[in-house]
Amino acid sequence: MAKIVVMGGDGIGPEVVDAACAVLDRVADRLGLDLGFEHHLLHGACWDVHGEWVLEETVEAARTADAVLVGAEGGPKWDSMALSGPLQERSGLSRLRYNLDLYANLRPVKPFPALFDETPFKPEVVRHVDLVILRELCGGVYFGLPKEIQVLDDGTRRGIDTQVYTEAEIERIVRYGFELAGSRRGRLCSVEKSNVMESGVLWREVATRLHAEFPEVDLVHQLADNTAMQLVRDPAQFDVVVADNLFADLLSDQAGMVCGSLGMLPSASFGDPLPDGHRPAIYEPVHGSAPDITGQDLANPIGTILSVAMMLRHSLACPEGADLVEAGVGDALAAGHRTRDLLRGDPRPGQTVVGCTEMRDAVLTAIDDRLAATTESDGGS
Ligand code: IPM
Ligand code: MG
Repeated sequence: MAKIVVMGGDGIGPEVVDAACAVLDRVADRLGLDLGFEHHLLHGACWDVHGEWVLEETVEAARTADAVLVGAEGGPKWDSMALSGPLQERSGLSRLRYNLDLYANLRPVKPFPALFDETPFKPEVVRHVDLVILRELCGGVYFGLPKEIQVLDDGTRRGIDTQVYTEAEIERIVRYGFELAGSRRGRLCSVEKSNVMESGVLWREVATRLHAEFPEVDLVHQLADNTAMQLVRDPAQFDVVVADNLFADLLSDQAGMVCGSLGMLPSASFGDPLPDGHRPAIYEPVHGSAPDITGQDLANPIGTILSVAMMLRHSLACPEGADLVEAGVGDALAAGHRTRDLLRGDPRPGQTVVGCTEMRDAVLTAIDDRLAATTESDGGS
């Protein structure tokens, strides 16, 4: 039996995770996968019960699980606690990512045809987009020390964050980027601000050096501000975009709109295999906890449902299940189901405004319809 550790976390996290678990459960049932779900608390939800952002036993459960599914973390109640110190001591999710050393975060951006006409962009701008933002997830300004608010001699304060990358940290993520690009369309865009940042100078040097090992991959160096512009000018130019923790955090939210909504984007985080060959992985939507719509059944579960598709493909060795989930999402959208984040203005003829559970049900129905159609065409019963 494959063990899936599930952490809904805060805000809309539990709602979208419930929806995605229902989809995973259905696919497992239909395709004969044996899955066991184990639920754990994360961040605010964990703090309120245990006074800790994540329990050590949860970190260990995540390390040994076949896959981890996370919803979201944070909300006004905990954000206002004005915490300081290392990030892994004040964010359950960051502690998980850091302690499991999941440095490679894949954020695929591929709009669904049903939404080509419904993004803030012209359809021809988004139609051919198929890119991955590869985010460095365990270093940079998120984790660099010092990280604190200091009181100066004159009583005024200053906030400090430290952008720091070792050569080894840059090398492993950029290498991942070359390998990923090599398995796709062979184009790697390496993003930094080497014009103003020393970490960016080192990043560019390492990328240039590694390129010699991957001559079949085209490497482009791009300054991060330019990437932000290129991502709206012509997002189809990109294949794999590799960037540090902060730049990729920003660029991936922006890229969400290329798919119509940030609520559409899934992600997967990997590290190197452990000595026993096991490879921990966390799957989660790119969006946050959305406190403003929490508990109202309004959230878009698709980013989490597509994260489950990534899980099926990368951790559960079930590519046909992944294809089925992705096709099911495409069918639900093609049938006109729209959560509110996917609408620009009033719904158009043929569109139905749905909530989180209705979108879940639309995807479940689409999956069953597809399986029934396959069985019929196979002549089975
Ligand atoms: C993300 C989120 C997180 C991050 C927050 C919730 C800490 O924005 O996964 O993109 O910044 O890493
Ligand atoms: Mg983010």
